[in-house]
Amino acid sequence: MALCKDLFLCLISTSLLVSFCSAEDPFVYYNFEVTYITASPLGVPQQVIAINDKFPGPTINATTNNNVVVNVRNKLDENLLIHWSGIQQRRSSWQDGLLGTNCPIPPKWNWTYQFQVKDQIGSFFYFPSLNLQRASGGFGGFIINNRAIIPIPFDTPHGDIEIFIGDWYIRNHTALRKALDEGKDLGMPDGVLINGKGPYRYNDTLVPDGIDYETIEVHPGKTYRLRVHNVGVSTSLNFRIQNHNLLLAESEGSYTVQQNYTSLDIHVGQSYSFLVTMDQNASTDYYIVASARFVNESRWQRVTGVAILHYTNSKGKAAGPLPKGPDDEYDKTFSMNQARSIRWNVSASGARPNPQGSFRYGSINVTEIYVLRNKPPEKINGKRRATLSGVSFVNPSTPIRLADQYKLKGVYKLDFPTKPLTGPPRAETSVINGTFRGFMEIILQNNDTKMHSYHMSGYAFFVVGMDYGEWSENSRGTYNKWDGIARATTQVYPGAWTAILVSLDNVGVWNLRTENLDSWYLGQETYVRVVNPEATNKTELPMPDNALLCGALSKYQKPQDISAAATSINGTKLKLFFSLLMFLCVVIFH
Ligand SMILES: *[C@@H]1O[C@H](CO)[C@@H](O)[C@H](O)[C@H]1NC(C)=O
Ligand SMILES: *[C@@H]1O[C@H](CO)[C@@H](O)[C@H](O)[C@H]1NC(C)=O
Ligand SMILES: *[C@@H]1O[C@H](CO)[C@@H](O)[C@H](O)[C@H]1NC(C)=O
Ligand SMILES: *[C@@H]1O[C@H](CO)[C@@H](O)[C@H](O)[C@H]1NC(C)=O
Ligand SMILES: *[C@@H]1O[C@H](CO)[C@@H](O)[C@H](O)[C@H]1NC(C)=O
Ligand SMILES: *[C@@H]1O[C@H](CO)[C@@H](O)[C@H](O)[C@H]1NC(C)=O
Ligand SMILES: *[C@@H]1O[C@H](CO)[C@@H](O)[C@H](O)[C@H]1NC(C)=O
Ligand SMILES: *[C@@H]1O[C@H](CO)[C@@H](O)[C@H](O)[C@H]1NC(C)=O
Ligand SMILES: *[C@@H]1O[C@H](CO)[C@@H](O)[C@H](O)[C@H]1NC(C)=O
Ligand SMILES: *[C@@H]1O[C@H](CO)[C@@H](O)[C@H](O)[C@H]1NC(C)=O
Ligand SMILES: *[C@@H]1O[C@H](CO)[C@@H](O)[C@H](O)[C@H]1NC(C)=O
Ligand SMILES: *[C@@H]1O[C@H](CO)[C@@H](O)[C@H](O)[C@H]1NC(C)=O
Repeated sequence: MALCKDLFLCLISTSLLVSFCSAEDPFVYYNFEVTYITASPLGVPQQVIAINDKFPGPTINATTNNNVVVNVRNKLDENLLIHWSGIQQRRSSWQDGLLGTNCPIPPKWNWTYQFQVKDQIGSFFYFPSLNLQRASGGFGGFIINNRAIIPIPFDTPHGDIEIFIGDWYIRNHTALRKALDEGKDLGMPDGVLINGKGPYRYNDTLVPDGIDYETIEVHPGKTYRLRVHNVGVSTSLNFRIQNHNLLLAESEGSYTVQQNYTSLDIHVGQSYSFLVTMDQNASTDYYIVASARFVNESRWQRVTGVAILHYTNSKGKAAGPLPKGPDDEYDKTFSMNQARSIRWNVSASGARPNPQGSFRYGSINVTEIYVLRNKPPEKINGKRRATLSGVSFVNPSTPIRLADQYKLKGVYKLDFPTKPLTGPPRAETSVINGTFRGFMEIILQNNDTKMHSYHMSGYAFFVVGMDYGEWSENSRGTYNKWDGIARATTQVYPGAWTAILVSLDNVGVWNLRTENLDSWYLGQETYVRVVNPEATNKTELPMPDNALLCGALSKYQKPQDISAAATSINGTKLKLFFSLLMFLCVVIFH
């Protein structure tokens, strides 16, 4: 074949063509070089994970149904996987970037993710999923725009602004990992970063001199869409902008009923879009604040992120005290009521032209119920571990999805308990047996003393209820069966429960975890395995040709020529390769 002159083109195989040609939608391409850089966000130099030398990394900007190609080169000194949090990876958990589905990308290697952002819109983020790496950075935004033919339920904003907030440690992720491995707590974070930068010096005692802070410049009178993500380790943050209302418009892929908030609690892993109108007189700049929630000690004051909102016609610097957040350390009802007030806009169009509410989740019969209970970390076989329902998850050396593909036995057990175990805790690779096309009710009961947020990959789930105390069958009477928000990450208050409903229509192996990095690292997660009993390629894409193989399959993995790692990935070539692939699709299949 003459076309085979180029090494790139020789990689084309039928299966690749099949999976590519299932979508004649446009492609967007990114190259990610993941490295350490030295940065001093809190005034102390430390090693931070950057993508293409940026911290936070570049934003992926796609449109519903686009095919996204990201060639990731791992220039760290340890394994890497990038997880696309909230991206549903329809029919392809192969691209989810978690240890249950993917072998890690070894140092110096690269791996190309390729997936379609099918039937999704909204604001998400990506991050490195292994070994607490997110505590050192490596995160960035992921925007999915509406297709041009589908109206968004608000006027086109003047600009789009990404804001990453998160608690931050001066210790790097390897040092934090060591603490956890030694059975210690991570302790209090050293600060909160906004867009990778430390706080503006609003108080000379609390903030040292010489810290670089974030400034967001805006034009008076205009309305902007702020996409705010909590990318931190484990601290819930209250987000607010001095003198400005936050008009909530979207949460992780669902348009919400639009309501003004003076501040909103954003828990670890959550994303929101706010429409903010620059309607003040610009007598000064304004503070943008992200402060730790539910903490009562004054030493937490320095764990506050402060950035600056600067109008182009501003007459001076921001001064004086920060705008106050909610003052309710001893009563979390305010926060829970605020969470309950976030409603789905049932009449807005989402990724499809039909209204979001046309999927009437409230009238679907539940087919399986899981009550999951977390606890503070405890010792299992002498090691400090975190559990879900009494099971601490152990990642298998062969990813679950690959074990299925190669019909390997004994890698995991499909025996995750439907109710919390009452006996001693176990450390196991125990997975939930999900029924394809089933409708699952999951009750997340937080028996820890800290706030948690839970995330499920592969799906958006409906948040139908939350309350303090123990969930019981009677709690169902309080469920919101009409306009509960569909999202990927929900908060679960300490001593409280949150109920979610999920339609298991996406075949694959999907992670269900706490977003609190320390508890996740210590095993507070599982997977939901959803298999279509009928053998067909319609409900799941075939394993990609470039899938890395490890564990029991490592003998099949060809070594990678890492001499290529010295030269950076040539984007032009990559683009050419995929354009030719599309051309072949058209020629062969039409
Ligand atoms: C699915 O696709 C793979 C790879 O293209 C092929 O080997 C397999 O036979 C297909 N399976 C079915 C049931 O069509
Ligand atoms: C992380 O911190 C430890 C201890 O301070 C240091 O020895 C190590 O080099 C750092 N590692 C990275 C990857 O930055
Ligand atoms: C994303 O791309 C669209 C065009 O597809 C463009 O209109 C929009 O401004 C971009 N957004 C960002 C944040 O870059
Ligand atoms: C690694 O990057 C090269 C381009 O530099 C690309 O040809 C190759 O497919 C990538 N490898 C994988 C496994 O994706
Ligand atoms: C700065 O913070 C300290 C500690 O909370 C406080 O005592 C002091 O009054 C603050 N200074 C100003 C100018 O607000
Ligand atoms: C939200 O607040 C703005 C002023 O900041 C106001 O113009 C707008 O009408 C409010 N919207 C709603 C839905 O309350
Ligand atoms: C601008 O607004 C602030 C706060 O609302 C107010 O205190 C101040 O007097 C106003 N300044 C001017 C020049 O209108
Ligand atoms: C903070 O609250 C906890 C309980 O919520 C309490 O045990 C502790 O004494 C409080 N600390 C301070 C400084 O008030
Ligand atoms: C749900 O179950 C009830 C009885 O348990 C049945 O009458 C109803 O038809 C079912 N609804 C659907 C949508 O299957
Ligand atoms: C998993 O669930 C399916 C029904 O969805 C059932 O047929 C199968 O036996 C279950 N497997 C195990 C190991 O429980
Ligand atoms: C945890 O569970 C125990 C036993 O059910 C209960 O007594 C305790 O109050 C719970 N604690 C929290 C924080 O939920
Ligand atoms: C990438 O490769 C193409 C074709 O081989 C070449 O024309 C281009 O200059 C290269 N770009 C870079 C940045 O090296």
